[in-house]
Amino acid sequence: MTSASLFERAKRVIPGGVNSPVRAFNAVGGNPVYMASGAGARMTTVEGRTLTDFCGSWGPLVLGLAHPRVVEAIQAAAALGTTFGTNTPGEVAFAELLCEQVPSMDRVRLVNSGTEATMTALRIARGVTGRNKIIKFDGCYHGHADYLLVAAGSGLLTGGITASAGVTASAVEDVIVVPYNDLAAVNSVLDEFGTQVAAVIVEPVAGNMGLVPPGEGFLEGLRQACSARGSVLIFDEVINGFRFGPTSFGVQHGVTPDLTCLGKIIGGGLPIGAVGGRAEFMDSLAPLGDVYQAGTLSGNPVAVAAGLVTLEMLRDEPPYAEMERRGRRLADGLTALAKSKGVAFHAAQLGGMFTPFFCDGPVRNLADAKTCDVAAHAAFFNHMLDQGFYLPPSQFEVGFVSAAHSDADVDAFLEAASRAFT
Ligand SMILES: Cc1ncc(COP(=O)(O)O)c(C=O)c1O
Repeated sequence: MTSASLFERAKRVIPGGVNSPVRAFNAVGGNPVYMASGAGARMTTVEGRTLTDFCGSWGPLVLGLAHPRVVEAIQAAAALGTTFGTNTPGEVAFAELLCEQVPSMDRVRLVNSGTEATMTALRIARGVTGRNKIIKFDGCYHGHADYLLVAAGSGLLTGGITASAGVTASAVEDVIVVPYNDLAAVNSVLDEFGTQVAAVIVEPVAGNMGLVPPGEGFLEGLRQACSARGSVLIFDEVINGFRFGPTSFGVQHGVTPDLTCLGKIIGGGLPIGAVGGRAEFMDSLAPLGDVYQAGTLSGNPVAVAAGLVTLEMLRDEPPYAEMERRGRRLADGLTALAKSKGVAFHAAQLGGMFTPFFCDGPVRNLADAKTCDVAAHAAFFNHMLDQGFYLPPSQFEVGFVSAAHSDADVDAFLEAASRAFT
């Protein structure tokens, strides 16, 4: 069994051979890799090659692969019953812990993915305000709900255009796309449409155009603008949440959104999402209120068990200082290597989250990110894969240093990278 033969078989029965498009390696070329197993910072391919993982399953694996305590919790929960379609004690403990750790959330509703979390948050915002329009930022990804697959329209004050076949123009006409980190753009849209804007949705630390941190005052400015206009501020922390500390980025940064979306890390590697916030918003959800939302497997006992033990470990033995230190070491090391070879390069890094941008920085928004040399990135990706290091297979994604990585892993990564910058 090889990755190549599996991909050939997969292409016959799975569209494009993959269950999520970026796994197809279209941005970097070559054949996608099939994994057989993993532990800690290491994955083993079906061919028996060992790869050090810096993709982290796109975010969830903050504790590394198959952490023994997470596996144990999953096994114990599964043995008791994988689903009941009723309430279970675990979901109560999990929701209590989430609200305790993220004090901007009075209540939280569990869903099955990040997509469902943002979809629900926006439905709450529209339901509570009675308004239709949404402001989103170019380059931020919030899952694949119709109205979020939207690109900027012809002007700042026009609705977006569809970014996918099958999404109707009417689905996105109420979504206005503005550049990330551009508070002036947000304010001019609000000046024009203030009383019609239900919500501003943002990744507080953007991770879907590569890593782009918020500029000084950006999130504070969004809070102020939303409060002034009665719009709901939604922080999409599906990547950010529990990434930089055992809480949300909003709480750490001192900016309180009305609603927070979570996913990835909080499921300990199992499918989960959550939306939480102030009681007055959350209580609009059915069965209390008239905003409908539901899910057969929501609050699934196995996913909740994996999430609970993960969040407890992150709270009780926080790995964040070490992840930040190793993330910085990796980014500084890459920057020094690129500089010594005269390569246009900018290593973005925050905590354990990083992106090697193949362009001169700073990268403040999608337009900046798009100046990258994607061919140079693809060559770097393939070189590193060849050397035994698995990075996200796209320039416009983020890599992760997890709690399972050691200094030696970072050093080995840099050693391999040194041969890429020739
Ligand atoms: C910021 C953000 N929001 C939402 C989503 C959607 O989450 P999911 O893929 O679990 O539906 C993602 C996925 O990458 C994301 O990065």
